[in-house]
Amino acid sequence: MATKFELSDLIRTEHFIDGKWVASIGGKRFDVTNPATGEVIATIADGGEADARAATDAAARAFPAWRDALPKDRAAVLHRWHALMLENADVLGRLISLEQGKPFAEGRGEVLYGASYVAWFADEATRIYGDLIPQQQRGKRMSAVKEPVGVVAAITPWNFPLAMIARKIAPALAVGCTVVGKPAEDTPLTALALVMLAHEAGVPPGVLNLIASSRESAVPAVADWLHDGRVRKITFTGSTPVGKYLARESAETLKKLSLELGGNAPFIVFDDADLDAAVEGLLVSKFRNGGQTCVCPNRVYVQSSVYEKFGDMLAKRVATLKVAPATDSAAQIGPMINARAVDKIARHVDDAVSKGARTLTGGKRLTALGPNYYAPTVLADATSEMQLSCEETFGPVVPLFRFEDEAEAIHAANDTPFGLASYFYSQDVRRIDRVSRQLEAGIVGINEGAISSEAAPFGGVKESGYGREGSKYGLDDYLSIKYLCQGGLD
Ligand code: SIN
Repeated sequence: MATKFELSDLIRTEHFIDGKWVASIGGKRFDVTNPATGEVIATIADGGEADARAATDAAARAFPAWRDALPKDRAAVLHRWHALMLENADVLGRLISLEQGKPFAEGRGEVLYGASYVAWFADEATRIYGDLIPQQQRGKRMSAVKEPVGVVAAITPWNFPLAMIARKIAPALAVGCTVVGKPAEDTPLTALALVMLAHEAGVPPGVLNLIASSRESAVPAVADWLHDGRVRKITFTGSTPVGKYLARESAETLKKLSLELGGNAPFIVFDDADLDAAVEGLLVSKFRNGGQTCVCPNRVYVQSSVYEKFGDMLAKRVATLKVAPATDSAAQIGPMINARAVDKIARHVDDAVSKGARTLTGGKRLTALGPNYYAPTVLADATSEMQLSCEETFGPVVPLFRFEDEAEAIHAANDTPFGLASYFYSQDVRRIDRVSRQLEAGIVGINEGAISSEAAPFGGVKESGYGREGSKYGLDDYLSIKYLCQGGLD
């Protein structure tokens, strides 16, 4: 059996349902394009309601046998899948770059990142314990056991086409759930390739099903899962408005939900910070994936006494970032995902400048490279009246807000309905303790810009959603607790 694949082997153009590659029931297809050039990479099956239903039928049929498989056997399948991902890391990285636009080094890095969740949950599969409850009454034994919730629908975004779906599928399969999935319409090819590798690794037919859908077909396809009582859980990464829609629409069948939603992350630089470290941390966290990351800092608060100095240091570094298509090995930032994304970035920058922001570097489209490129940008004198203070820009733009004291910084950082990631730089141990406690966020980076890890709980508070991915907590959302009360023992 070949285990190392060519790019052409991995480009799949049909849905994967019940262990087979199948066309859409209605025969529809849609184009997947390269954001760097606009060229069509592939024309693929476009799944709607009937395809979503067929996927659920397969997943529901496969559930009892997969649930009853020994955890170590499920773990072995996941370990094989992990090995195949590593073996094919280069080609998967190229596929990510091709359809998503990120530089190859980042694409390959994403493969390793996504694979790390598969390895993590493969190991966790064999460690799902219940409890024997201390005896309360003579003749009765009470215990709590954990069981898979059933069929899980995984709906994933375009910014990390491999890592996001891997970190949803892996815990689901580890605990014995079966999966129906739908990747974002901009980047379905990586997810289809990943499912192909899962099949090669021995995931049985029906256990993992994936449909691709265009923007138009996605709504009826997902609605079918929302209203189908056999789907017991929805796991979603994406925007807050869509997350709220999923919560509302799935209420009729009271499903479990994990929602990893918008961020609008604050990044605070106090005057006692190591400024060189803060600049480097900001570059790592802000410009990862060209700023198209839910945990990217969106608002940078800098204390007044170091404001100008920090702005100069940052702008100098940002001006050196190389923007180019993924095919250029020196690229550090690729194209944005599509025209809508670049338009939003331009709208935010124009709005800020019209309200008094100063452009320290960037501030323009890079049309010579293509329609979807935007220059890495640093804006000084940002204020809370500007759109970029309350909406996620999701692009390579750093607005610098000025603050005077700690209380003002914390108030500004928390003055948002969102609460996914937050970051701050300070060398004062008491301040570190105070600020960590007061920030309203699911994740806090303290003197650190790279916070993501398979071993850590990833997720938000407030309107950034609920549920955690990764870590030992990442299994809970796929499990329900059953209480067993056995009587007549005396
Ligand atoms: C995201 O942008 O939603 C995920 C980023 C990460 O896993 O670090």
